[in-house]
Amino acid sequence: MMYAINRCRVTNVIMSNVRSMHLLKEKAFVNGKWSAAENQQTFDVYNPANGKVVGSVPDMDVSDANLAIKAASEAFETWKLTTAKERSKLLRKWFDLLEANAEGIAEIMTAESGKPLTEAKGEVVYGNAFIEWFSEEARRINGEIIPSPVATRKILVEKFPIGVVGLITPWNFPHAMITRKAGAALAAGCTCVIKPAEDTPLTALAICQLAHEAGFPEGVLNVITCDRKNAPDIGKLLCTSPNVAGISFTGSTYVGKLLNQQCAPHIKRVGLELGGNAPFIIFDSANIDKAVQGALASKFRNCGQTCVSANRFLVQENVYDEFVNKFTEEIKKMSIGDGVNPGVNVGPLINEMQFNKVYTMVEDAKKLGATIKTGGQPIENLGKLFYTPTVITNVSASMQVYNEEVFGPVATIIKFQSEEEVLKVANNTERGLAGYFYSQDISQIFRVSKLLEVGMVGINEGLISTVEAPFGGIKESGIGREGSHYGIDEYTYIKYMCVGNLG
Ligand code: SIN
Repeated sequence: MMYAINRCRVTNVIMSNVRSMHLLKEKAFVNGKWSAAENQQTFDVYNPANGKVVGSVPDMDVSDANLAIKAASEAFETWKLTTAKERSKLLRKWFDLLEANAEGIAEIMTAESGKPLTEAKGEVVYGNAFIEWFSEEARRINGEIIPSPVATRKILVEKFPIGVVGLITPWNFPHAMITRKAGAALAAGCTCVIKPAEDTPLTALAICQLAHEAGFPEGVLNVITCDRKNAPDIGKLLCTSPNVAGISFTGSTYVGKLLNQQCAPHIKRVGLELGGNAPFIIFDSANIDKAVQGALASKFRNCGQTCVSANRFLVQENVYDEFVNKFTEEIKKMSIGDGVNPGVNVGPLINEMQFNKVYTMVEDAKKLGATIKTGGQPIENLGKLFYTPTVITNVSASMQVYNEEVFGPVATIIKFQSEEEVLKVANNTERGLAGYFYSQDISQIFRVSKLLEVGMVGINEGLISTVEAPFGGIKESGIGREGSHYGIDEYTYIKYMCVGNLG
């Protein structure tokens, strides 16, 4: 009965009932079955645009997580023996179903994340592409024969799946961060226990339903849902269980460090995609109109709640006024609102915690003498979690917006004079995920690319993520790479086989 009521609630807030209906799941997925929590607890998922309940999902605890790990462990015994071609075919089938259901997934995503529908559709294209990519890469996990120093020996190298992996994924990209990890893991021959963010489990369950339809064997892919209070214990279990070979986490640096510490005594494979503090540098030689477009795309993607979003705009003195004015004028034109409404390009922040963080940072900057060129306040008539796209200048090093990742629709602009000076500012952070710069000086392009201390550089480009390229950071922004052909390495180990005494 409860289930029927919830499904009604869900369909009320989603535009096209027919498209999304069979994707709306309010159970977790363990060992090939839709499952409630053992203790029957559930928690509600809210639409950040209007505060309404979108659905309810199981509030699982470590006992449920243990069952999922057990199922994944048992499934690994046969999944690891499948051929690359078999895994590739299943992944391809999953991709085809994801493509056929793209609209429905996007609608669910907008309802629970607040992301504008056009962006949600974009994320579905991006997220689906990881499954397509890894269905192809599955067949290219090649070994090697290395020339031996001894005539009667052969040195063979082969790659094998590491085992069960725990995938802990964030709310800001509820689809793509799952497929980027799970696609690689499944292609390699690993089995997965996925723990999606408590704010956005419905997208995870929708794509899981399509994996189920594609025909993955029982236990190969499991999704366990839990509310905030159970998340630390489940995270700890994934890091410490002897039946889990590795974890991959996308989220805050704080949680990433904790998971890393918990994994360390067990020497587990760890992949971490953590926070950034991306500099976005505009040099005097830049094409300013292109820089403005790149800046808008980078800063306001998902309302600024993106790890690779520009966090600090650093603009050289001769083009400073032009950039600030053009950028501010474009921001004033943005349409803010519920993401289901046509034309909206900035939605709400995900939850109260995130909203308060953005609000406090801007208030701190105001108090310390910053200039608010536009924005700088909540939009209460739209809802509790809406904040105006904001531009802040006259920023000083003591302000929170200068030092921390804002993760919201707030652009901080700082003037600089020389390349040497700006590189010091850009690199003066413990984070090193992405960095961007606009310049038309070819020597400067190669020099600055080399000197920026980040894992990814956008050169005259504000949006750089694509399945073909390795995504990941250095310093405290993470360990490992996702996507691209490197992404599979996180889920395989290398075995050296020495064949001796050959005639
Ligand atoms: C992220 O914010 O963590 C992911 C963004 C992307 O893949 O581009």
